[in-house]
Amino acid sequence: MVTNEFWLERWQAGRIGFHRDEVNPWLIQYWPQIGRGAKVLVPLCGKSADLLWLANQGYDVTGVELSPMAVVEFFGDNDLTYQTEQVGSLKVHTAHGLALRIVEGDYFDFHETGFDACYDRAALVAIPEEKREQYVLHTKQRLTPEATLLLITLSYDGDQAGPPFSVLDFEVNELWGDWIRKLASEDLLQLDERYQSHERTFYEESVWRITG
Ligand SMILES: C[S@@+](CC[C@H](N)C(=O)[O-])C[C@H]1O[C@@H](n2cnc3c(N)ncnc32)[C@H](O)[C@@H]1O
Repeated sequence: MVTNEFWLERWQAGRIGFHRDEVNPWLIQYWPQIGRGAKVLVPLCGKSADLLWLANQGYDVTGVELSPMAVVEFFGDNDLTYQTEQVGSLKVHTAHGLALRIVEGDYFDFHETGFDACYDRAALVAIPEEKREQYVLHTKQRLTPEATLLLITLSYDGDQAGPPFSVLDFEVNELWGDWIRKLASEDLLQLDERYQSHERTFYEESVWRITG
C-alpha cells in the first residue's frame, strides 16, 4: 500500500528513482508565459531541480513534500541556506535570497490558497487511484480561478505495479475537466528498456496544460 510511511521509507533507503538531477525538459519547453512574482505551487515536490528553475524565472515558489530528507537534500545540493518555522503540523522551510519555500508535511494538511499556477510532475501519478480525485480537488482549492496548470503524467499497459501509477487520458480529462489540453507525448518504451515489462505495449509520458 502506498502510505506516507512508504514514501518516508523510500527516501530513507535512497530508493528515489523518480528523481532527476537535471531540469525537466517539458517544463522548460511548455511552461506558459506568466508574470514574474506569480505564486507557483509544486505539490509532492521531492528535491526536484524544477523548483529552482521556477524560482530563477522570478516566481514565488512553494513546494510541498512529506520527507524531511528530501528537504535537507534539496537545500544542501543547491547550496542554499534557509530558515524553518513550525506552522501547525507543517514545517515551512524558506530559502534565503530566493522566493522559494518547501512546506514539509502531508499535502492534504496544506491549506494555503491563492496560487496562480501549479506544476505537477510525478505527483498525480504518485497518488493511488482511490485518492486521486481528492488530490485534484485539494489542488484546485489551492488555486485561483484563472490559474495555470502544467501537468506531466504517465500511462501504460501491462504490469500495473505502481507508483508511478498509470493515469489514462480519459482519467486526466475526468479529473481536471474540459479546459485541460494535451500538448505533447512520448512513448518511453522505445527510448529506454527500463520501461519494458511483461505484456507491455506502451509507456507514454504526456504533458498537459490548463492556461488561465
Ligand atoms: C514520485 S515522487 C516525485 C517528486 C518530484 N515531483 C519529482 O519530480 O522529482 C513523489 C513525491 O511525493 C512525496 N509525497 C507522497 N505523498 C505525499 C503527501 N501526502 N504529501 C506530501 N508529499 C508526498 C514523496 O515523498 C515523493 O517525494
